Amino acid sequence: TKPTLIINLKTYEQGTGRGAVKIAKIARKLSRKHKKVSIMVAAQPIDTPLISDIVPTLCQHMDPIEYGAHTGHILPQDVKFSGAVGVLINHSEDRMEIGDIEQSIFYARKYKLISVACAPNISLSKTIASFRPDFLAIEPPELIGTGVSVSKAKPEIIKKTVDVVKETNPKVPVLCGAGISTSEDVSKSLELGARGVLVASAVVKAENPEKAMEELLKGFE
Ligand code: G3P
Repeated sequence: TKPTLIINLKTYEQGTGRGAVKIAKIARKLSRKHKKVSIMVAAQPIDTPLISDIVPTLCQHMDPIEYGAHTGHILPQDVKFSGAVGVLINHSEDRMEIGDIEQSIFYARKYKLISVACAPNISLSKTIASFRPDFLAIEPPELIGTGVSVSKAKPEIIKKTVDVVKETNPKVPVLCGAGISTSEDVSKSLELGARGVLVASAVVKAENPEKAMEELLKGFE
């Protein structure tokens, strides 16, 4: 797996609808310039078809269901049909029961979606890694959106997650997120054993998202 940068648009105004398209186009432009990094954008389910032709897109959530009577749920087949390449599972802001996490990873595999399964701590990282997601993302909830990066404030959580995931399932690459804002936050994460990072506010809420993304990409060099 290539070093990976995931821009999570959350439900920020700047990352919704036309805002999602704007950020996707920046990601496309910078992907062409930084070929060694895989850049993906995680969009709201309703926005995924708007941007999936522009940039590899992850849907921010899906439900572990098949066709049937499930009003209001997000159907894995339809996530695929929307053009998404993958899905975020169990983001801290959209937690799921452990059984549903396992099932969602199963459905992602079934419908050939890249699964990025998130965990708030080391012990859940271990459990979720055993479900064989394509990526395991560690994000300490208390640092999300603070601008204080996990790699600076809690380097040991990245290192330990990398270790337990390696013990559990050495094939699962670890990503980390929360507060990542600078190239140094990124390079530190990679040094600690992460294969990449998830970033939201530092890019989506930036006055100049392109500049903010360029800054992060420097950390991969
Ligand atoms: O999924 C990434 C996200 O939760 C991190 O948010 O704003 O701290 O980069 P932020």
